[in-house]
Amino acid sequence: MLRFGAMVTKKEISDKSCKIGVIGLGYVGLPMAAILADRGYTVLGGDISSKIVNKVNQGKAPINERGLPELVEKAVKSGRLVATVNTREVVKKSDVILIVVQTPIGGNKKPDLSCLKKALETISENLRKKMLIIIESTLPPGTTKNLAIPILNKSGLVAGKDYFLAYSPERAIPTKTLEEIQKNDRIVGGINEESAILAKQLYSNITSGEVFTTDIATAEVVKLIENTYRDVNIALANETALLCEKLGVDVMKVISLANKHPRVNLHMPGPGVGGHCIPKDPYFLIDKARELGLELKVITSARELNESMPKHLLEIIERALKATGKRVENSKVAILGVAYKGNTDDVRNTPSKAVIEELMKKCEVFSHDPLVTQDFGGKFSNDIIEVTREADCLVILTDHDVYKSLDLEKLSKVMKKPGVIVDGRRILDPNKTATTGLKYFGIGL
Ligand SMILES: NC(=O)c1ccc[n+]([C@@H]2O[C@H](COP(=O)([O-])OP(=O)(O)OC[C@H]3O[C@@H](n4cnc5c(N)ncnc54)[C@H](O)[C@@H]3O)[C@@H](O)[C@H]2O)c1
Repeated sequence: MLRFGAMVTKKEISDKSCKIGVIGLGYVGLPMAAILADRGYTVLGGDISSKIVNKVNQGKAPINERGLPELVEKAVKSGRLVATVNTREVVKKSDVILIVVQTPIGGNKKPDLSCLKKALETISENLRKKMLIIIESTLPPGTTKNLAIPILNKSGLVAGKDYFLAYSPERAIPTKTLEEIQKNDRIVGGINEESAILAKQLYSNITSGEVFTTDIATAEVVKLIENTYRDVNIALANETALLCEKLGVDVMKVISLANKHPRVNLHMPGPGVGGHCIPKDPYFLIDKARELGLELKVITSARELNESMPKHLLEIIERALKATGKRVENSKVAILGVAYKGNTDDVRNTPSKAVIEELMKKCEVFSHDPLVTQDFGGKFSNDIIEVTREADCLVILTDHDVYKSLDLEKLSKVMKKPGVIVDGRRILDPNKTATTGLKYFGIGL
């Protein structure tokens, strides 16, 4: 039975007698809730989506994430994880609250913090003395100070004096979320030392990595700069790919040899950057810097370059079809991969959307994905042969493991002759592909 929370102490966190509320049971919140329950905490998860709540209470995971179905089933069966759409109850019955709602950007590329505001307001209306509130959602710099604290303090309580407040951004990568939440180092920003110590105690019970404490403003920037580093690195890989195409050099050879250098770690080029985080986190910095009169030139150019990659891929498709004596206009193009990255069902900001939508203006498009059921128009099937049949061009947009071992002999037989492959992820061997009679085009080649 969940009891009404009173006051959270370091001991209650360490002996797991405190109750934890997790607000937002999405790609990050649900894995976190299930891990906490597995570690022995009593967890009440709140989400505004009744579909998610019902699934969780049936012991099922609404998303495809390695190990999550088993962990959710175990947590729910043990009685230590219960979900509800009533987030008010979550706050009332918990001592510690984790906020893990989405923080996207809007059409204007500015932060959309509406879900966060709503969650904070619900907490504020039900906040009690000595509760510990931890924000895990990724935040634009200054959000805790300028948005979260004013809303929470509307309760009449004062942050750092009457209740504890910390910011601990999530750093796990989809497809390895469970593993990384339990292994990665963690950053904890506290509004005061006590808040940081309490939050550190909680995360020390979850991760085998180190937990570093700092102030909240620093922690906010750390999270954003991590994802921005990755975006800029991918942009550099993409720009290298564009250069290699002009030079007649293979970008994969360049990157793999450059990465032999002890201080070089270039990422991979691709058809664009998707997912909930990397395409938007740099905008949190760009937007804030602009407000302060600073143009972030490198970060902005990297974003622009990565956003232009679907268009570049369309150009390669046109070139590939032309090389086989065809025009896009009369062709059938088969797209392999709708998810934004391999082995996930996540389609948020997927580059496949732009590629499919643009192609559909000109030709017949069939798409396939082993994990996704949503399509972006054209015809969609989970059967590769059905999608590939009579196709003039096969385009790989997602590095799902199943695509790395495609039976190209079989596919080339069902495709129209001469068939061509555009490898947007560089997961196939160009020479081996050529032996199947299919012409090979790849990004950066
Ligand atoms: N997905 C990742 O791998 C990842 C990694 C690192 C950081 N993050 C950050 O973590 C945060 C969450 O990301 P996510 O991918 O889990 O998002 P998500 O969209 O998968 O999940 C958010 C959940 O919150 C729920 N929600 C929204 N408003 C609510 C409210 N007021 N009360 C209760 N529930 C509410 C939504 O219904 C949704 O299920 C974001 O800030 C994101 O940038 C995500």
